[in-house]
Parts: sequence; C-alpha cells; structure tokens
Amino acid sequence: MLTLPSYNLFDVLAVSVCGSVIFALVRRLFLRSKSTKLAGPKRTSWLWGYTRDLLAGVSGDYFEQWQKEFGDVYCIPSAGGGERTVFMDSRAISYILNTNAYNFVRHKGNVSLLKRMLGGGILTVEARDAHQRHRKSMSPGFTIASIRFFTTIFLGAACKVRDQWLSKMAAESNEKDIVLNVEYWMNAISFESIGEAGFSHDFKCMDGELPLIGKLFTSLGKNSGNVASMIAIAMVQVFPVVVSLPLGRNIAFDQLQAAMRSIAQGILGDRKVVSDAVSDERRSLVASIMKAENRSLTQEEVIAEINTLLLAGFETTSSSMTWCLHELSMNPRVQQNLRDELVKFPEPTHEQLATEMPYLNAVVQETLRTHPAVPENHRRAIKDDSIPLQNPITTASGKIVDHIEVRAGQGVMISIEAMNRSSLIWGPDSHEFKPERWLDGNLPKKVTDIQGFHHLLTFIDGPRNCIGKNFAVAEFKPYPS
Ligand code: HEM
Repeated sequence: MLTLPSYNLFDVLAVSVCGSVIFALVRRLFLRSKSTKLAGPKRTSWLWGYTRDLLAGVSGDYFEQWQKEFGDVYCIPSAGGGERTVFMDSRAISYILNTNAYNFVRHKGNVSLLKRMLGGGILTVEARDAHQRHRKSMSPGFTIASIRFFTTIFLGAACKVRDQWLSKMAAESNEKDIVLNVEYWMNAISFESIGEAGFSHDFKCMDGELPLIGKLFTSLGKNSGNVASMIAIAMVQVFPVVVSLPLGRNIAFDQLQAAMRSIAQGILGDRKVVSDAVSDERRSLVASIMKAENRSLTQEEVIAEINTLLLAGFETTSSSMTWCLHELSMNPRVQQNLRDELVKFPEPTHEQLATEMPYLNAVVQETLRTHPAVPENHRRAIKDDSIPLQNPITTASGKIVDHIEVRAGQGVMISIEAMNRSSLIWGPDSHEFKPERWLDGNLPKKVTDIQGFHHLLTFIDGPRNCIGKNFAVAEFKPYPS
C-alpha cells in the first residue's frame, strides 16, 4: 500500500519561503538580463526595499531627491527583493498612461486587495474591452450637464457647513479663539456630495457624526503608518496571498466592504429613487450605472461600481479640500487675494465661475498640484516593451539611450507627487504654495511637456484617468474648467 510521507508545519513553511525566495531571485535575474540597467539608490533592506521609508515620509521628496542624483529614469529597490523603474520623463509617462496604457496593469496584490474591498468593478478590470465596457456605463453620469446639476448639491453642502460654523462661533463668542475640526467638516461635505449626487442618499453627516463607512475609511487611512500595516502593504506586493490572511488590516477591509455593500444594496433596493432619477434629465451617478445593468453590467458589477464611487469619491476630495483650507490659513496674502475676488461675485453664474474668477481657479490648481490625493501610480508590464524618452539618459553602464527596455512582469512607477512638485520641473519655488504661477502664463517648458489635467498628474492621464475629476473640481468651485 502506498504511504504518503508526513510533513510538519515547519517543513512546509520552510519549503514555501525558500521556494518563494528562489523564484524571486530567478525572476529578478531574468528581468535584469533583458531590461535596460539603470542607476538608483542602493538596497538597504531585502524585506522592505524603500517601501517603509516611502510610507513613513513624504514619498515625493524622496523621488525628487533621486531624480537629482540619478536623472529622469532610475531604479529603486522595492519590498521582498523586487525593483521598480521610476519614470520622471514626460514622454515616457505619456506612453505608459496613454499610448500603451493597457500594457501596464496594476500589481496582482493590489488587484486582490481592491477586489476584496470593492468587488470586480472599474478599478479592478484590466483588459481593454472589459475596462471600456465599465467606463462607458459610468460616463453618462459625469457629463458637463450632470455636473452642472450637481453643483446645486455641492453649494448646498458647503452652505450647511458654513451655517454650522457660524452658529458654533456665535455660541462661543466669549472665547477669543475657537477650534474647528476642518477635516471632519470637509469629510462631511464630501459625503453629502457623493451621497446626494451619486445615489440620492442622505448620509446625515451634518448632525456632527460621520456614517460607519466614513469612520472606517478614516481609521484605515490613519493606521496605514503603523508597522503591522506597513508590513502588510509591503508584503502584498510580493505575495498577493497576504490579502487572504486574517490580519487586522484585512479584517478592517472586510468591515468596510460589508458596510459599503449594505449601502449599495439599499440603493439598489430603492428602485423608485433610481427610476425617478433616470426619468429626470439631470440624472444621478447611480442612475446611469443602473441603466447599464442587464445591458452591459451584472448586478455584482453594479454593486462594485457603487462601492468604487464611495471609495474613490470620498477621501480624495475631502483631503484635497482640507489641504486647500490649510494652505489658505498658512498664506494670509493668498487668502486675502481670494476674498477680494470672491466678494465681487456674491452669487456667481457658471460662466463667471468659469471665466471671470481666475484667482479661485489658480488656488484650486495649486492645491491639486501641491497635495495630490494619490501620490504614486504603480504598474506592471504585461508584455516586453520599449518606452520612448523625451530626453536621453545615461544608463548604469554609462551608455546613452533614448528608449528604456522593460520586460514582461517588470514593475514601473510614476511619482505623481514628485512630478507635480520637483524643482527640476517647476523651478526653484516649486515647493511654495503660489497660485500666481498659474496666472502669468509662464509655466516652464518641462511643465508644459507633461500631459494631464492642466499639466498635473493628480488625476493621472489616458484611458484610465480619473473619471470623477470634473466632479471633484466642481466640489471645490461649482464649475469645471
Ligand atoms: C481630488 C479628488 C480626486 C483625485 C485626486 C482622484 C485621483 C484619481 C487617480 C489618480 C485615479 C487613477 C487611479 C489608478 O488608476 O491607479 C483615479 C481613478 C478613478 N477615480 Fe478619482 N480622484 C478624485 C476624485 C474622484 C471622484 C469625486 C470620483 C467619483 C465621484 C472619482 C472616481 C474615480 C474612478 C471611478 C476611477 C477609476 C477610473 C478608471 O479606472 O477608469 N474620483 N482617481
């Protein structure tokens, strides 16, 4: 009779770890043998690469410093013995995000994480046809006409917060200073806006408490700096299976998913809201997605789309608006200039907002430049590729090249934060909050070479750019330009 050998847990673990390390080394040698060899910072830790430093600090500052040392394209050590090729060359970035965008997909670990949290929706589909199907089903909700209608909602949310602040100030008028939790109130505006405009849903945050998903979002964001979270974030890049382990962070993702799912199911259950909105010319985001249900999206995909809008539409906008108010509080001169412009238009029309309020426009753009809500964009090549450069660079061996050869599986990345703020691109005042740079029409050539929303990569670019960018900008100022 055949007897199977018995292994203890330690043997199995040891074999798995050794197998993974050998696989990582062989893969790395293979990728290295065929791709362009680039200079870059030395590895100081096999486990972390530079992941821990980038998570703990301001990642854009690291990338900017490396750009000064190694040029516009370089290679950095990533977690688990891996490497990432960093591109700060405008033509290469346009190639990755635009020309051959579907050859550069998310890392498997990130897709598993997003799927666990959101389900299979627009953010997790990678193939061109599937992505275009999702994008087409969501686009009608983001037309200029829809956004124009939503501006009434955005203004309403801002006015409610203004009234709350005024009444708090009146109640505490004996105090010299009063403290307002601006971050909370920007979260409330963002929730109110996405809830009403997206789903005709009232999150009731103006009463002073965020809904459960708001609390879960903010606590996940705050905990991402602790060591356990950093290990999970680093390791998921190398071993996607980490997403399935019962770790605290994964459990928090499950709680978030359950909370979002129950909201999505509630919205879907309320067919009346959806059908009313569809029959209205000025439809909500969910109404246009619902129209695609059965025709091009399954019900599970519709739920994933709603989850995605909640995730993508909430924290990004609220953190950007919070940074905007922070910058205004730190720059009284900018604040005064903005006030001077705003008082001229007590009730601005769309056209006035679009064309006659340049300073407001410049303040919004400067906020999006200096504080991009998504600081980095990480991708992996599906097939071998040759990425063209705007300016030739010198490789690690001293050769001058105008293309970078990458191999299937190779990790590439763009530091949005560094591209928006590097002094080599924007000039010596690049780290200052200076809305005037947008007004004199003298942006440096290296800036105008960058393709994207006003030469910014805040919403990235190409077929996978942020579908909600006009929605987000309209929350800042109620007309997208
Ligand atoms: C200041 C606010 C915002 C910023 C900085 C921002 C930034 C981004 C970025 C960088 C991406 C690309 C992610 C990637 O592919 O790796 C993205 C995608 C996306 N964003 Fe935004 N976003 C903002 C607001 C919004 C809003 C308000 C919504 C919806 C109401 C939204 C919905 C989406 C969706 C659905 C995608 C996926 C698009 C696709 O893959 O085709 N975003 N966003």
